[in-house]
Amino acid sequence: MQSNHSPGPHLGIIMDGNGRWATARGLPRGRGHEAGVRAIRPVVEAAADAGVGTLTLYAFSSDNWKRPRAEVALLMGLLRRYLDEEIEALRRSGIRVTLVGRRDRLPRGMAARIARAEAETASATRLHLRIAFDYSGRDAILDAARRSDPAVDRQAFGRLVSGDGSGDVDLLIRTGGEKRLSDFLLWECAYAELRFVDRMWPDFGAGDLMAALADLATRHRRFGGLPAASVAA
Ligand code: IPE
Ligand code: IPE
Ligand code: MG
Repeated sequence: MQSNHSPGPHLGIIMDGNGRWATARGLPRGRGHEAGVRAIRPVVEAAADAGVGTLTLYAFSSDNWKRPRAEVALLMGLLRRYLDEEIEALRRSGIRVTLVGRRDRLPRGMAARIARAEAETASATRLHLRIAFDYSGRDAILDAARRSDPAVDRQAFGRLVSGDGSGDVDLLIRTGGEKRLSDFLLWECAYAELRFVDRMWPDFGAGDLMAALADLATRHRRFGGLPAASVAA
């Protein structure tokens, strides 16, 4: 674990399936993204209540720029609204919010909003909520490589990759039924427990998060070693 890793596990969630959720209901995909934003708050609150230390939500990948311009614009609008409308509630809940990913390609004014959200919640300690937006795991590693030197060790390099020392992911959840990482937290997921959920993100709730955490508690993590019982033998 890295030095400034928050206490409690680090969870990553790939919030996938908004489009299919909407299509299945005869709605435009944008309505699925709106429902997806509404699904965030209960899951974040449940994570904080359950003692999760860090929660990284994958909201927009750097490859998502390939989508139709109107869908991208809608997603940008949802990020703006989220930052405008949710930050105060998060602050009151003791939740620190940061964004990971590129900021230089976002619409005008967004970087300032992000900086404000981060500043307003900087002293909160109950949960660290990281929103991955215009995020690419490969680019995070590439940027770290560019900023590092040949003498760098694994721990220092990991801090460069994450940008904030948030450390390895303990549990990665992907909703929407696909079983892939789609360029999310590639370095940090080296020993992550993986949980793929068929439910579409807008239908994922606090109960699903609690089930995932209960399952995590049953997993035997060995990190390449042997189970404790065999070590004694
Ligand atoms: C996840 O839902 C949200 C983003 C990637 C922005 P999708 O939009 O990928 O939904 P599906 O996978 O098409 O159903
Ligand atoms: C991954 O979902 C990105 C987010 C959920 C933000 P995608 O829907 O973009 O991934 P692929 O295209 O199915 O791999
Ligand atoms: Mg998808």
